[in-house]
Amino acid sequence: MQGSEERAYYELSELKERAPKLFGIPTGTKLDEMFWKVEIEGDKPVKKPLGGIPHLSIINLTGVPDSGKSLLAEQFALYQANEGYKVLFITVESPANFLYTSLKAKSAYLGMDFDRISKNIVVIDASENPELREDPRAFMDTMAYAIREKKTTNVIIDSITGLYEHKEMMARQIVRQFFNFLKKWKQTALFVSQKRSAQGAETAEAAGGLAVAHIVDGSIVMDKKLIETRWDITTFKLPLGSVLRTIRIDGCRLTGHDTRTWVFEITEGGTINIISPLEEFIKRKEVM
Ligand SMILES: Nc1ncnc2c1ncn2[C@@H]1O[C@H](COP(=O)(O)OP(=O)(O)OP(=O)(O)O)[C@@H](O)[C@H]1O
Ligand SMILES: [Mg+2]
Repeated sequence: MQGSEERAYYELSELKERAPKLFGIPTGTKLDEMFWKVEIEGDKPVKKPLGGIPHLSIINLTGVPDSGKSLLAEQFALYQANEGYKVLFITVESPANFLYTSLKAKSAYLGMDFDRISKNIVVIDASENPELREDPRAFMDTMAYAIREKKTTNVIIDSITGLYEHKEMMARQIVRQFFNFLKKWKQTALFVSQKRSAQGAETAEAAGGLAVAHIVDGSIVMDKKLIETRWDITTFKLPLGSVLRTIRIDGCRLTGHDTRTWVFEITEGGTINIISPLEEFIKRKEVM
């Protein structure tokens, strides 16, 4: 670029100052132990839990409708805000006043301080603002303002899919723009993306094809399975007609991670409780 200091190549050693430190941003769920890093102790590599999703990562949170994506995104926002970190929550599906009610109820259930939380979460409501949804530039200007003024460190977009409704040809380009934007502003982010039933339920493929999964730093897939056959009943030891919910880290470029499918439940307070890996879950004796 003309007049710019940007160079196209660097010697590896020159990147040292700019390299992000690897640590976790907690979600308040067991996911925090499912990302890890390897440290050398003595002369042995030792696996250490990261304690959260990787700092400065942009993670795609995907799943079919009602799989718990919004619940997990809200829990992450609440946990961070309760710890004193600022969160920018962009609501594209659900109007902001509904988000308020939901966050307030969950914070009470989790025994958190809602006064503190409500000062630490900044909301952009794109659900009732088609101009914002249709115009990524204007959208990012609004986001930049909020990030700068409120000094946020975390961003949630629920959902990114809502930003390329009716124009899936553009999905890749739009997701890339938001990805680059959040990298530039040094945010740790969750992009919620929706899956259609035609897309393999347990894969990271979201609406707009593989646009999101290829661009982001990692994917978390949430799923739900209806217990409907005799095989399901005996395998999962769950009653007919009940729902088995699962969560899995589908990939992450930045750190090592657990690759197993885990079983989780949605608590009566609308929070995510990750129970155990599926392989252990099906070995249990008792019925839930
Ligand atoms: N307070 C609650 N108590 C019990 N169950 C709840 C509570 N809140 C939500 N749920 C259940 O959690 C499910 C998952 O909700 P969530 O809104 O997270 O889905 P989602 O994956 O974001 O779906 P969508 O793609 O439609 O936005 C809901 O359908 C509902 O069954
Ligand atoms: Mg949702």
